[in-house]
Amino acid sequence: MPHRLVRIDRDDPEPGPLEEAAWVLRRGGLVAFPTETVYGLGADATSTAAVERIYRAKGRPPSNPLIVHADGVDLVRRCVDDWPEQAERLADAFWPGPLTLVLPRSRIIPDIVTAGRSTVGVRVPEPTVARRLIAAAGVPLAAPSANRSTGISPTTAAHVAGDLGDAVDLVLDGGPTTIGLESTVVDICTGEPRLLRPGPITARELEGVLGGVPVGLVGPDGGDGPQLSPGRMPVHYAPRTRSIRIERTGRLAEIDGLATSALIVVGPHDPPPILAGVRLVHLPEPTLAARRLYATLHECDGLGVSRIVVLMPPDLPEWQAIRDRLRRATVPWGSSSAE
Ligand code: TXA
Ligand code: MG
Repeated sequence: MPHRLVRIDRDDPEPGPLEEAAWVLRRGGLVAFPTETVYGLGADATSTAAVERIYRAKGRPPSNPLIVHADGVDLVRRCVDDWPEQAERLADAFWPGPLTLVLPRSRIIPDIVTAGRSTVGVRVPEPTVARRLIAAAGVPLAAPSANRSTGISPTTAAHVAGDLGDAVDLVLDGGPTTIGLESTVVDICTGEPRLLRPGPITARELEGVLGGVPVGLVGPDGGDGPQLSPGRMPVHYAPRTRSIRIERTGRLAEIDGLATSALIVVGPHDPPPILAGVRLVHLPEPTLAARRLYATLHECDGLGVSRIVVLMPPDLPEWQAIRDRLRRATVPWGSSSAE
């Protein structure tokens, strides 16, 4: 169990727990806190020693940079060296909210946060509790998702406590997160915005605010390779149970051992035939699917089933972020690693 788990009101946070958490952060400790996307594992982003503890707690490769969280644009602007018009527009439209902007970093952000890069990912999270915590600590917070590296991201305080245990000093429990999928990450360093991680805010929405400037997806799905955003590794967000994916209901018939599996149907598929023994979860619609996805994977991982089978949602823009996470959590049925 973690050192301490404290309940806190997400929208109207009590001063006592906030002050305690800020005190832990100022002393270089780790505090897990709710954002609208997933729980973050926060540390003082200006302290190399504090941020080192994040990498250790997560078992995260030092080559994977962290997102810096601020309570508003003023603090963001102290973390970056440039604030182009595109940043202003996107911040106006989407902050506080699930959007991370990659920009040239300023001198207050040490190398360890950015894995030595000249750029930093910054965002302003939506929940009042997250922004008040940053204000009370008086520093920006480096905060990756509060799970062990490559595991399933946490959407509840119980997920954090179960996964990180004593490695975190304090967990603020503000209830389940409302969106459930990590922020959209977009690099706007060059004037040609690049989508590094699909998320709750779609490329179309970004393009709308940028006056039609195209926002192209890069990385494993875009062809530029994973080096641009190292967090987009092929295996990520993965349950411990062997997890496979199929694209069509018809393929269910080919899967042996289905009776001892859990089946997660994502998207508006016709209900699959009743299958004796199979634990079935249906997430028909994108907003609900995002909110429930990681909790469902956590639950299925705890069932002791032989396999988790995911029936994938359609390849449509509103499902892009969920398809991205599911491709990292599973292997395709029929590939040698799925047997
Ligand atoms: O919703 C979120 O973004 C959550 C909450 C806690 O805010 N945080 C999160 O952090 O998902 P993490 O560390 O699990 O993912 C950070 C992603 C990684 O894919 C990382 O490679 C990318 O952001 N990233 C961070 N800084 C970057 C940079 N300077 N250049 C390119 N990619 C960067
Ligand atoms: Mg993560």
